[in-house]
Amino acid sequence: MPQYSLLSREEKENELELLRKQYKTICNMNLSLDMSRGRPCRDQAAFAMDMLNCLTPEDMILADGSDVRNYGIPAGILSARKLMGGILGLDPTEVYICGSSSLNIMFDLVSHAYLHGVYGSNEPWRASEHPKFLCPVPGYDRHFAITEYFGIYMINIPILEDGPDMDMVENYVNNDPDVKGIWCIPKYSNPTGVTYSDEVVRRLAALKPAADNFRIFWDNSYVVHDLYGDDKDELANIMDLCKEYGSEDMVYEFTSTSKMTFAGGGLAALGASRHNIDYISKQFAVESIGWNKLNMLMHVKFLKDNETIAALMRKHAAVLRPKFKAVEEILEAEVSDIAQWKNPKGGYFISFNVMDGCATRVYNLCKDAGVKLTPVGATYPYGHDPHDSNIRIAPTSPSLDDLTQATALLCLCTKIATLEKLLTDGEAEEV
Ligand SMILES: Cc1ncc(COP(=O)(O)O)c(C=O)c1O
Repeated sequence: MPQYSLLSREEKENELELLRKQYKTICNMNLSLDMSRGRPCRDQAAFAMDMLNCLTPEDMILADGSDVRNYGIPAGILSARKLMGGILGLDPTEVYICGSSSLNIMFDLVSHAYLHGVYGSNEPWRASEHPKFLCPVPGYDRHFAITEYFGIYMINIPILEDGPDMDMVENYVNNDPDVKGIWCIPKYSNPTGVTYSDEVVRRLAALKPAADNFRIFWDNSYVVHDLYGDDKDELANIMDLCKEYGSEDMVYEFTSTSKMTFAGGGLAALGASRHNIDYISKQFAVESIGWNKLNMLMHVKFLKDNETIAALMRKHAAVLRPKFKAVEEILEAEVSDIAQWKNPKGGYFISFNVMDGCATRVYNLCKDAGVKLTPVGATYPYGHDPHDSNIRIAPTSPSLDDLTQATALLCLCTKIATLEKLLTDGEAEEV
């Protein structure tokens, strides 16, 4: 693998010509591959098929006499609150189960806070002339879409090795009353794979927001999604730390079983202080007469407890590990000196950084050769990557063969884009 920056101009041009020939051959193969979204693959969905047959007529009436086939029990059946509380490390009274999408709960909570405020403050976010949200970047496009939808101004916060830059976070949150919240994906972050260190979680719990209606949106989507068994990241329990600082009302936690059972057909949960749960229960009572308790019961019977969940997640990991490894090995062999990434220990993504100013070109080259990537910029608020360098790789959904082909093409396109950039930059210098 040549060190491109060490090549003479002529050597770079010759190398580029060679790579373009290879690219043309691949274009003629009419590929149609998709590495754009972090969906589970069919083999994973198959693990939960037994869940669909696990309910019996006897299950329909709970011990307290309530019928799961009817309206009622708005916060969710106790056994489901226990199950999801077990995953998040929360007491069942600190858990509210609603629907099948955690993103949906996040949207709802932003919406309620924007219109009516939050527990402990009567001032809705919209009362602020310039409500703002902190957005650790690169991050999750669908988070950014929610805050953009409400016209909330988003501020980029770089993600470091151990979580968001906490000096910046403290500075904004503790001094600016317009800062109403922060998006956090604390474990195996989408897309960086970063897990927040104990120190970062503690500093978040210790925040003293200038706004009395500030909330941390703690999206723990990948809480049990380890790839390598015991070699996994550990995340501190933010609610426990908040209780030390008396700040437990400041956090909304989220998770779902989308990547345990069925994506879009799982169970979603909100974790929050009892004050928040009581307050939000009243708001959610306007939205629904009771969520899907049959789904809750199915999940309770199928997932049972943390041990059963861990065993299921080992099956998922066995499917996903070879895919992550394949991508990582190809990247290592082909582009280790011209791109950067971190091999995550869990989650659904690899965050791939090419030379500044090259990501859009890599994306377009891949697209024209039949490989769909997550649009460049999606990992930043407003779809704008200020460095034009981040590409999110989603290895979970394609087959191993497709993934291998797509990653090889990604590497080829990265080489082409890098050489083109070096050559144009060189020309500019010469002028
Ligand atoms: C960080 C993050 N949060 C939330 C979601 C969506 O979760 P749900 O299916 O529970 O709405 C995803 C899906 O990829 C995700 O990556």
